[in-house]
Amino acid sequence: MTLPIRARYEAAHDEGRPLLGGHRGNPAEHPENTMRSFRSAMAVGCDLIECDVHLSSDGRLVVIHDHTLERTTNGTGLVRDHTAAELRKLDAGDGEKIPLLQEVVELVIGKVGLVIELKQVPPLYEGLEDKLLNMLRQLGAVPECAVVSFNHSSIQQIKKMEPSLQVGILEGAKPLHPARMLREVGADVYSPHWGAADPHVVKEVHDAGGAVGVWPVDDEAAIAWCRYCKPDSIFSNRPKEVGAELRNWATV
Ligand code: G3P
Ligand code: CA
Repeated sequence: MTLPIRARYEAAHDEGRPLLGGHRGNPAEHPENTMRSFRSAMAVGCDLIECDVHLSSDGRLVVIHDHTLERTTNGTGLVRDHTAAELRKLDAGDGEKIPLLQEVVELVIGKVGLVIELKQVPPLYEGLEDKLLNMLRQLGAVPECAVVSFNHSSIQQIKKMEPSLQVGILEGAKPLHPARMLREVGADVYSPHWGAADPHVVKEVHDAGGAVGVWPVDDEAAIAWCRYCKPDSIFSNRPKEVGAELRNWATV
């Protein structure tokens, strides 16, 4: 069923559990950020799929985490120095290819929500936000996607371009005033490392009309902390196991 991403948050909240996000798909079982990983994340019951996006040298939106190729593929060098066709020839693990973002959107939309992380790293990708927005509009996918980034300027820019798009700011540290940051950027979701969340942060963001999404929730300590803090979504590299825990929260 097609459900706007905001409505997904509200439905999960009514069930007494956070949304489950597959962080780079289901990388515990399949190569991260590949179509196989995303299919698996949907099969194990994720509500959201998270993926990372860079631009190829010919301006295509490609799905890969690092700005270099060595860790996750059999290629070398910078992602930005290769055309999409060159990137597609590489092995991204177990014979999988580096996906084009369009393929991922087409795979998941109408089934689960998609959280797209813009890897807007120096030197900044010119036109990355425009290209992404054009694609989401053409595919009719704006309501079912959220766009997040550690680059808050990028998020501020894309929100101004499309106010109906849900956007989120990623944060590795623990700022003094998360809600103020959220407001300054015009973002909908505050998304810190799980260890930088606490019940006060969650309340502050909720009071400001925002949602909280934390990552990466992969072990018992992180799961227990999230049960205490009650964020709206959690992103896991082990979505199958963590999802089983979450379903218990709703029933206990
Ligand atoms: O969802 C946020 C998280 O993915 C940010 O960190 O490095 O895993 O992309 P990273
Ligand atoms: Ca990411």
